Amino acid sequence: MSTGQIERVGVVGCGLMGSGIAEVVARSGADVMVCEASEDALQSGRDRIERSIGRAVTSGKIDPLDAKLTLSRFEFTPHLEDLADRQLVIEAVVEDEEVKTAVLRQLDQVVDDPTAIFATNTSSIPIMKLAMTTRRPEQVIGLHFFNPVPVLPLVEIITSLLTSTETSDRASSFASDQLGKTVITSPDRAGFVVNALLIPYLLSAVRMLESGFASAEHIDTAMVEGCAHPMGPLHLADLIGLDTTQAVANSLYEEFKEPLYSPPPLLSRMVEGGLLGRKSGQGFYTYSH
Ligand code: CAA
Repeated sequence: MSTGQIERVGVVGCGLMGSGIAEVVARSGADVMVCEASEDALQSGRDRIERSIGRAVTSGKIDPLDAKLTLSRFEFTPHLEDLADRQLVIEAVVEDEEVKTAVLRQLDQVVDDPTAIFATNTSSIPIMKLAMTTRRPEQVIGLHFFNPVPVLPLVEIITSLLTSTETSDRASSFASDQLGKTVITSPDRAGFVVNALLIPYLLSAVRMLESGFASAEHIDTAMVEGCAHPMGPLHLADLIGLDTTQAVANSLYEEFKEPLYSPPPLLSRMVEGGLLGRKSGQGFYTYSH
């Protein structure tokens, strides 16, 4: 099987992660068909992509002609059937097992290419659970990107026990050679490598705040000024989205039953109250859009 350039890519979900993934794929020269559930969601995804590409032009990362070419590689659709001719589809919908399995089941029905790869950007759900909802589990793989996708170089590649070597070779060469990302491989365990380390750290910061041990500002300043992290843990949880942080914590807890992975009550209450972090305008901090 060829490990050459993948030219037709589908991205399902155009939120924070999906829009960033679609952008880096289009910047690599591939055509990208972006699929979202509604016209409104498509429009806000398209706006986010245009803003991000505009930012790359302003900071001199790409020239205006490249930006125009990149934008010309996008198509947007609310219909999953429009992904029929894709060689690779990356699913980046909300971190919810039912929603993700529904998308993969439908993709399995509509994608024509018998060698097409189905990649999931799940942050934590075991790939096997998602793969088994399709008739081609050997072509399902985890490609886990990091937010902001155009800035952070890492992609975690996660193969299930059933993923074929051809699929993993093609996906790996796509991420490293075509997208220019740094690739690490992870076993198919909830949280993979990064979130198994990152989430307990973020949850510890929430517990520290919840217990009155330290203020949000002091917790974040401590890690930025004391450990040279680019941002503190509460700011980072706001960037990731508190709903996503909670969902990843739940997957980790379900898999390992470690108390450190269980979401603290403050996090759960904030999610229930719609305080989701940067994307909703309010999390541990307030954001103006
Ligand atoms: N999209 C595109 N580019 C962006 C961006 C975005 N959303 N946000 C920032 N940038 C770019 C800026 O254009 C800028 O580029 P130049 O240096 O070329 O001008 C660069 O990033 C730095 O941005 P700023 O100067 O505005 O801000 P900063 O220095 O504070 O950096 C940050 C912002 C890149 C977000 C940095 O704070 C950072 O890397 N934070 C840590 C992020 C992190 O840990 N992410 C992983 C989260 S875990 C995850 O995503 C996966 C999961 O499963 C939960």
